Amino acid sequence: MVTTTPAWNTADLKQKGKDHLLNSVSNLKLVREFGPLVISHGEGVYLWDTDGKRYIDGFAGLWNVNIGHGRSELGQAMAQQVDEVAFVPTFFGLAAPRTIELAARLGDMFPGSINHFNFTSGGSESIETALKIARYYWYLQGKGDKIKILSRHMAYHGIAMGALAATGIPAYHTGFGPGMPGFIHLTAPYAYRNAEGMSETEFVDKLIEELEETIAREGADTIAAMIGEPVQGAGGVVPPPASYWHRVQETLRKHDILLIADEVICGFGRTGTMFGHVTYDYAPDIAAFAKGITSGYVPLGGVGVSDAIWDVLSEPDRVFMHGFTYSGHPVACAAALANLDIIENEQLPENAGVQGERLLTGLQAALGDHKNVGDIRGKGLMVIIELVDDVHSKAKLDAALNVGGKLQAATRSRGLIARANNDGIAFAPPLIISADEVDAMIDAASGAISEVLG
Ligand SMILES: Cc1ncc(COP(=O)(O)O)c(C=O)c1O
Repeated sequence: MVTTTPAWNTADLKQKGKDHLLNSVSNLKLVREFGPLVISHGEGVYLWDTDGKRYIDGFAGLWNVNIGHGRSELGQAMAQQVDEVAFVPTFFGLAAPRTIELAARLGDMFPGSINHFNFTSGGSESIETALKIARYYWYLQGKGDKIKILSRHMAYHGIAMGALAATGIPAYHTGFGPGMPGFIHLTAPYAYRNAEGMSETEFVDKLIEELEETIAREGADTIAAMIGEPVQGAGGVVPPPASYWHRVQETLRKHDILLIADEVICGFGRTGTMFGHVTYDYAPDIAAFAKGITSGYVPLGGVGVSDAIWDVLSEPDRVFMHGFTYSGHPVACAAALANLDIIENEQLPENAGVQGERLLTGLQAALGDHKNVGDIRGKGLMVIIELVDDVHSKAKLDAALNVGGKLQAATRSRGLIARANNDGIAFAPPLIISADEVDAMIDAASGAISEVLG
């Protein structure tokens, strides 16, 4: 934790931000006019701006600061690593001790046969790696035509070109030219709009029927893998029906198609167990992760593959031509080891389950009857309030009303940073959050919705 805060000049920083910073996933016209909200320090679930205003970090940065802010253990681990050796690549058969220790520790943490790890600098690179390994696995077995990737609408897998091709949210594609061919998007397991009039079993049957039809149409001998987030995140927080992943896995295995779990958000505790595929009780062939592996203190991601895939990859006497300069960066791996100590010792997955339930039921009690609240759903500490114009027709709110912008301002004025847009407010606080802090988030969100929508 920072005990003395530099006296930042907010006006000066805002001006420099306006003049020089090109923000990501932000309305650049607004940033250019008003400048960014400048956050100077954090502790626990709280952040402070340069004017000293305190906020609950209700989105844990970007669903990633699982251990909360200001944990000096990570800084110490990184400083020690810099003193020992700051950089060793994993190219050319090299590796630093903590890179190897992290791979071995992940081998113990992942259930099933996911035992072999390639590291990256973040989620998109992890998805690129997972997709390429899936294709390469088939190529090495003489099945070089198995290249297509099945994904879902509403999926978010990142913004690098391969990850973007798997992403099923139209707004991320607009204006960026043609995407990669060979990606096929299936219906999301989003019961609120896709399961009208169906029981849960009928809904899952319908999704599996679509999967079977797609495989029959495209040909299993052209499909490398299906990728999915255990709980879809950025597309709208979609916890699937309980039997969904098991049924998907059964179908894919029957057709010799690999299953990739995108654990970038769900991994390391967010859904109430260590991994999303543990929460939903299935066993992917490949798992991609990032975010929570270091709680965002320093960039790191990675991909774990099963023993079966490792056996194929490591069989030929040839070079695996994939990797990034920072794959297995020792400083990031040192931070990850200290972070995993905290996640395990403080039982953060369990807390995510308990506090996630409190957040979900608290929001449902406070807002369930509101005229614009269509659905409140979540799993662990991933929760969303979906807003609509009319709860009966489920018509979306008119974008011209700018409800998202107004909710962003109304939540921030109440000391809450969450992800607000015209479709609702999503929450993903640090996994260390307490019951009182959850209640404060519920109060702030309810107050903001009343202010903006009555
Ligand atoms: C499920 C999922 N996969 C992949 C990514 C991409 O990660 P990054 O932004 O680190 O590239 C994200 C980012 O939010 C994500 O939520």
